[in-house]
Amino acid sequence: MKLDRLIAGYEAMGRQAAHLAIAARRVRVNEVCVTDGHHPVDRFMKLELDGVVIQEAARALYLMLHKPVGILSATKDDQHPTVIDLIDDPDKHTLHIAGRLDRSTSGLVLLTNDGRWSKRLMMAEEEVPKVYLVETLDPIAPDAVEAFARGFYFHTEDITTLPAGMVILDERRARLTLHEGRYHQVKRMFHRVGNRVTSLHRESIGGLALPADLPPGAWRALTAQEIPAAFG
Ligand code: URA
Repeated sequence: MKLDRLIAGYEAMGRQAAHLAIAARRVRVNEVCVTDGHHPVDRFMKLELDGVVIQEAARALYLMLHKPVGILSATKDDQHPTVIDLIDDPDKHTLHIAGRLDRSTSGLVLLTNDGRWSKRLMMAEEEVPKVYLVETLDPIAPDAVEAFARGFYFHTEDITTLPAGMVILDERRARLTLHEGRYHQVKRMFHRVGNRVTSLHRESIGGLALPADLPPGAWRALTAQEIPAAFG
């Protein structure tokens, strides 16, 4: 939102009075006087008019969580425990998930209450590699590597999957890099080559890898350096 709109809405001041107040240097954003009505503002900024706080800065949350198998990537569910149940932050009810995992998948999940950050992450999705460790029921055929790189046509969505990088680690294990996040994507891709995923674990998103000291079920806040690192 722009500063002038937010001020105009404060006690129904209106657009003109808001412009006058901003021009008269009566408005401060995060302790700094702002005279540009188009200055972008959000709920994470503190706003003052004539020294009176008209909006307290909301607490921005950016978390990483090691999702265990069996936990749902959802904020609420009547039947199964969710990733939110694993978090004990007082503001956890404000969180949403930036990229879900299936209940049977483990690994890195990012959560935030900053819609602009998660939207940017989703928009940049093609540039953001997501790395999965996959175990399969049957041996992985060497020609699957080329098939994954070519992409598969998914009839239900009418899309062809983006080139995926696969490195076969041993007979039934591979490391797969995707640049998108379609519904059950890894499982559907392996199904296409006549195989079945028996275990799936997300190791990283962009520049963020699941740390070795974050056990299943644990979470922590991202550091200031990690927040932009998610974009790759
Ligand atoms: N692909 C899947 O099939 N499941 C996931 O949880 C993530 C990617």
